[in-house]
Amino acid sequence: MARGREGGSTCDSEMTRDRGAALVLATPLLGALAGCTSSQSALAPAGPQAGRIASLWWITLAVLGTVYLLVIAFLLYAASRRRLEANDPGQAPDVDRRLTRWVGTATVVAALILLGFLVADVSTGRALERLAGHPRPVHVRVIGHQWWWEVRYEGSDPTKVATTANELHIPVGRPVALELNSADVIHSFWVPQLHGKRDLLPGYTTTLWLQADRPGIYRGQCAEFCGLQHAHMAMLVVAEPEPAYEAWLRQQADTALAPTTPQAARGRQVFLSGPCALCHAIRGTTAGSNNGPDLTHLASRRTLAAGTLPNNIGALMGWMIDPHASKPGNNLPGNAVSAQDLLALATYLEGLR
Ligand code: CUA
Repeated sequence: MARGREGGSTCDSEMTRDRGAALVLATPLLGALAGCTSSQSALAPAGPQAGRIASLWWITLAVLGTVYLLVIAFLLYAASRRRLEANDPGQAPDVDRRLTRWVGTATVVAALILLGFLVADVSTGRALERLAGHPRPVHVRVIGHQWWWEVRYEGSDPTKVATTANELHIPVGRPVALELNSADVIHSFWVPQLHGKRDLLPGYTTTLWLQADRPGIYRGQCAEFCGLQHAHMAMLVVAEPEPAYEAWLRQQADTALAPTTPQAARGRQVFLSGPCALCHAIRGTTAGSNNGPDLTHLASRRTLAAGTLPNNIGALMGWMIDPHASKPGNNLPGNAVSAQDLLALATYLEGLR
């Protein structure tokens, strides 16, 4: 599983891989799961919806764990009783009557438990919708691509209109309405600490409401198999206090910084005259294509390639020269540029704060 600078602990992948085993051995693994509070755990909720989902998970685990233990206890009891009663055939009608009573009771209890789950499930579902229709939400469009996330802040105020990628910033304590769509195949938006999964469908917009109650960086992962690099389709949700969020958005809405050194100026020249500009936009320059991620403020992001690499000049140069080494099959072609041009290009892009 791909990890950014803030990537989660090994708990994430182990949780998925071991899901089958965990179901069988739920009780002994309880402690291990409870300790799994990385930046991508549904058991470490940071918002109201994720909190409700985590509560439902714990209730389910507690009830089913108890049922499991009771079944095992009754199984052991029955096994030991059977041996005793086999020695005394005269008790058979008595045993039949008791058996009927036990089975009847167990059936009623099972039905009541299922009814309880239905109530808990419906009330969780309703709680998840409670933010919808809030009067002052933040609207963000998130568009899935193979294999990265386009993030667009739109609106009537041009100082707050920005496009970025693989990093979603939201203000703490304010509902966010995410309008989800896909440019190619079905993806799924999943930031376990904030909400459950929601599919991104080509040609059909769905809205997901979420809210972060405390500042933090929450890792998200595409949760629907969408091709070769599905596992390398991560994103970070950065929840920050409203003033920091507003400052970030204003900065993102700005056009790109001009190069300040001759090397960076040469890098911009390489960018604008080469194939880069055919797919990427850098607002404030002539590069305005929308095929790949907007690079206007690339250096402000924490990761490259949707959480695959840390964002630094070395990783960026490696990524531009041979993007298929770390992310085979992605749409960025390798660039045959000279070492000087590569360094200039990386210097320019890493200056785009
Ligand atoms: Cu996008 Cu999996």
